[in-house]
Amino acid sequence: MVTAMGGFIFIRSLRDANVVPLVEITVRRMEFRGRDCSGIAWISSEGLKVVKDSCPISSLFHKYNLGGISATVALGHTRYSTHGKADPRNAHPHLDCKGFVAVVGDGALRNYEELQLELVERGHKLVSKSDFELVSHMVEEFIDRGLSYVKAFTEAVRRTRGLISILALFRDGTAVAYTSHQPIYVGLSEDFITISSTMSGLYGNSKSFTKIDGGEVVIVASDGSVSFLDLQGRTALKSFSAYSLEEYLVATDGYPHHMLREIYEVPYSILRTASAIQAKYLELASKIILRSNRVFVVANGTSLHAGMVFSYYLSELANIVPVVVSASEFLLYYLDNIGVGDSVIAVSQSGETSEVVRSAYEARLRGATVIGATNNINSRLTRFSNLYLPIAAGPELAVPATKTFASTLILMYVLARSVSSMASSTSSKVLDEVWNEVEKVHVELSSNLGRVDNEAREASKVIVNCSSGYVVSRGITYPLALEGALKIKESAYVHAEGVEGGELRHGPISILDKNMFVVFIEPLERAAAEDTLKMVEEVQSYESPVVLISHSSKVVRGLETVINVPMIGRYFTPISIAISLQLLAYWIARYRGVNVDQPRRLAKVVKVE
Ligand code: F6R
Repeated sequence: MVTAMGGFIFIRSLRDANVVPLVEITVRRMEFRGRDCSGIAWISSEGLKVVKDSCPISSLFHKYNLGGISATVALGHTRYSTHGKADPRNAHPHLDCKGFVAVVGDGALRNYEELQLELVERGHKLVSKSDFELVSHMVEEFIDRGLSYVKAFTEAVRRTRGLISILALFRDGTAVAYTSHQPIYVGLSEDFITISSTMSGLYGNSKSFTKIDGGEVVIVASDGSVSFLDLQGRTALKSFSAYSLEEYLVATDGYPHHMLREIYEVPYSILRTASAIQAKYLELASKIILRSNRVFVVANGTSLHAGMVFSYYLSELANIVPVVVSASEFLLYYLDNIGVGDSVIAVSQSGETSEVVRSAYEARLRGATVIGATNNINSRLTRFSNLYLPIAAGPELAVPATKTFASTLILMYVLARSVSSMASSTSSKVLDEVWNEVEKVHVELSSNLGRVDNEAREASKVIVNCSSGYVVSRGITYPLALEGALKIKESAYVHAEGVEGGELRHGPISILDKNMFVVFIEPLERAAAEDTLKMVEEVQSYESPVVLISHSSKVVRGLETVINVPMIGRYFTPISIAISLQLLAYWIARYRGVNVDQPRRLAKVVKVE
């Protein structure tokens, strides 16, 4: 199976105008969702037409001379491979065997294998490895059984599992879209009806808009009427609001920065990760870890901090304590002793960080087995690894890593759970269980994100004028202290140091004064939490501005600045804490006038050749 993140748009003209150029412009504006493949579908006098390839939409138009096409109904798609190659066959739209329907989408079908097997057995010719192609063939089957286009579509999507946003264009011009979790936007004007997977997709074509949320369907019938249903076929009522978006916000989908947009994507990116992991690779990786003499986790920066959290997951769940080490140190001090029987889990969002890539290459050369964990499946890390696991967060454009950190934690959690289940020979369905857990986490994060953002913004005002500070925690949230300090440094250019709570009293406390802030993260371990809350009181007496990131309702005397994060269990609360720290860093940077998307001297990929 190959999975993808994508942006899609459907436009119907209400005045017989050609919508193809508008589809192209709009798809280009969605390229923050990826651009390794693209495609369009339109209704011509000969029926449903599709052109697609493994290139961005502008190249597609150029290569296939699409400028001359005219159609009053069309859709477009842009794609980022989260798993599997950027092959033209895997580009969307996907047609069924009979050309009834063209399907585009975003997400990953968790029950791909089961559906694929059934369809092949029933004689369907699958031309790609894309999970979304399966939906077009399922729709075809339901049409063959006599169902209407809309009913065939809803029956097909009812059979899918996972994170999925999908849009289908039928050969009579009817368009139907469904989403499992992410909103899909519907825009109206005197000239057009638009369905878009992004808010910015309505720019330039809509005057009013509404959206569908998880479990809902929108239909634009061939006569141009618009209606909304739930998956049970009940009518859903929607009210439209005025649409307006400043032009400078189009490229960031309405957010002032990619960093903020990407933080707001975390509740979806973790679902994307949980639905993209495939059982056979997960089992293979688990087997490698279980059979290893020693397990090393090698990474840099934010990925290293995710690797540190993984060491808690793996040691607590599977009783294996890995060595977690910066790739730079690994190359200098560990490599000489690496050999057959060792495994190296190399974690890199970009898959291109020089030291991580070299660590993977050199370790493999010495006989170790390398498992790459990356968000970039076309990277050198995937080539140098024996096996790779996709982080599958979708493209991350801001230099500070945010959603990829959260998604990496999910991947690491799944891996630890799988190792644990294999070690105890329980035949538990790890992926199903984790999916259910992550869906709950998604709900908690989504419903608290706006409030946490406001609290982080208020908290940032308390510390924005400090020249330096500490981020303090203990236990499984200690790596979060390191990560929070890194985010504040790189995003806001304020010096910050991550300190292990117990160590605060062994030196660092001596320089605290009103110019130095302390952000305390309430630890998840009870004794450590109690001690930390005492420390909060103590530190306040040194006049340091203090922020507490709290997952409990415990009140600390005299403390006003608290960011309350949802408690979502020992293994997922680090994600809610990470979001609060990312937002805190973001707002400190905003108030200090720093462009968070492009911090000075940093690039998204750090290469030191
Ligand atoms: C932090 C950040 C860097 C990277 C580090 C490793 O926000 O972006 O510290 O985490 O350069 O990058 P990857 O994960 O691409 O190997």
